[in-house]
Amino acid sequence: MADVLRVGIIGCGNISTTYLSLAPLFAGYRITAVADINMDSARTQAAAFDVQAMAVDDLLDAPDVDLVINLTIPAAHFDVSKAILQAGKHVYSEKPFVLTVAQAQDLTNLAHAKSLRIGSAPDTFLGASHQLGRTLIDTGAIGQVTSGTAVVMSAGMEDWHPNPDFFFQKGGGPVLDLGPYYICNLVQMLGSVSQVTSMTGMAQMTRKIGTGPRAGEAVAVETPTTIHAVMKFESGAIITLLSSWDVLSNTHPIIELYGTDGTMTLPDPNFFGGEVTVASGRDAPEVMAWDHPFDVSDPTSSQANYRGAGLADMAQAIASKRPHRCNETFATHVIDVMTAILEAGETGEVVTLSTRCDRPAPLGPDDALALMAG
Ligand SMILES: NC(=O)c1ccc[n+]([C@@H]2O[C@H](COP(=O)([O-])OP(=O)(O)OC[C@H]3O[C@@H](n4cnc5c(N)ncnc54)[C@H](O)[C@@H]3O)[C@@H](O)[C@H]2O)c1
Repeated sequence: MADVLRVGIIGCGNISTTYLSLAPLFAGYRITAVADINMDSARTQAAAFDVQAMAVDDLLDAPDVDLVINLTIPAAHFDVSKAILQAGKHVYSEKPFVLTVAQAQDLTNLAHAKSLRIGSAPDTFLGASHQLGRTLIDTGAIGQVTSGTAVVMSAGMEDWHPNPDFFFQKGGGPVLDLGPYYICNLVQMLGSVSQVTSMTGMAQMTRKIGTGPRAGEAVAVETPTTIHAVMKFESGAIITLLSSWDVLSNTHPIIELYGTDGTMTLPDPNFFGGEVTVASGRDAPEVMAWDHPFDVSDPTSSQANYRGAGLADMAQAIASKRPHRCNETFATHVIDVMTAILEAGETGEVVTLSTRCDRPAPLGPDDALALMAG
């Protein structure tokens, strides 16, 4: 294997531009080839980013590709990741990692049998703000976290995505689509979840595409679009998750954690940066800050974006033979939490989880700097 991991992409849709344009920020890997079932999409991205366009099977067979990023739609994640592992390559998948715990375990067994690594987004929890939140919790800034709220509510995805079908099919919905950001971040701060329950609903049976060549076309809704869940963590913390694509506007804090000695708020875990506040005791909240490389880099934007950091960490971990942070045990537990929330919505019961994970190692400023190019 080369010193720098040689990486291919399968799935040249919307998010592939982010991976291709941010890759030069990172040391440890280089994107060399792209593939898609739609060869035109692969050719377009290859031309824009000066990489090779390949048919999917050719990319899987390519001897000079060590790892493949799976940027296909959620329903294809399992089959595509399995094919990547069967081809003898490491895989890093976009979220959601897969759609069931059984699929996650199948991939894990295959990877372990072949001595290959699996990684999964989201990696936004490695961002400056969320790592600051982790450090503040670990150093007791708000004492023992006993409860909290996480809120991901909007009017939906059909306004901005030209092909929003997958958001409303099985494998979509706000918990599986956006839940990974919130649940990964809560698990990296608070540890494993032990039990969940929820109630779910659907405000509309069809959604109208708002942009692109299919604008005006109706998409059928086949999965709940409002899910209110309660999660009990092994630590004893009880966190309520309000998730919906049926809400026109709201004023809730995105994540608010209540501890025995104070209260902390955290920004949107879909991004790497944003404001963290701590209120000690009953004092007014204060904005917390630290100097961390994965913070806002673009002065015209409030949203830091270092997507690919998880892959850079995985590349470094492969080279130095240490565990990677966005690993399969963590990703599997997050899938377990999300699918258990959906199951609880269907059955009306409290679901006890079958998996757990250790928290990924924290990523301090020096660790983050070591993942960056130059
Ligand atoms: N769009 C975003 O902003 C965003 C952000 C973060 C994560 N993600 C995640 O990334 C993944 C992709 O999202 P997207 O918005 O780019 O979707 P998209 O629909 O724009 O692109 C998906 C691409 O995958 C290709 N594809 C589908 N099945 C395939 C298969 N079996 N083999 C090869 N290619 C296949 C499609 O032809 C398409 O080009 C999803 O899991 C999504 O949750 C998207």
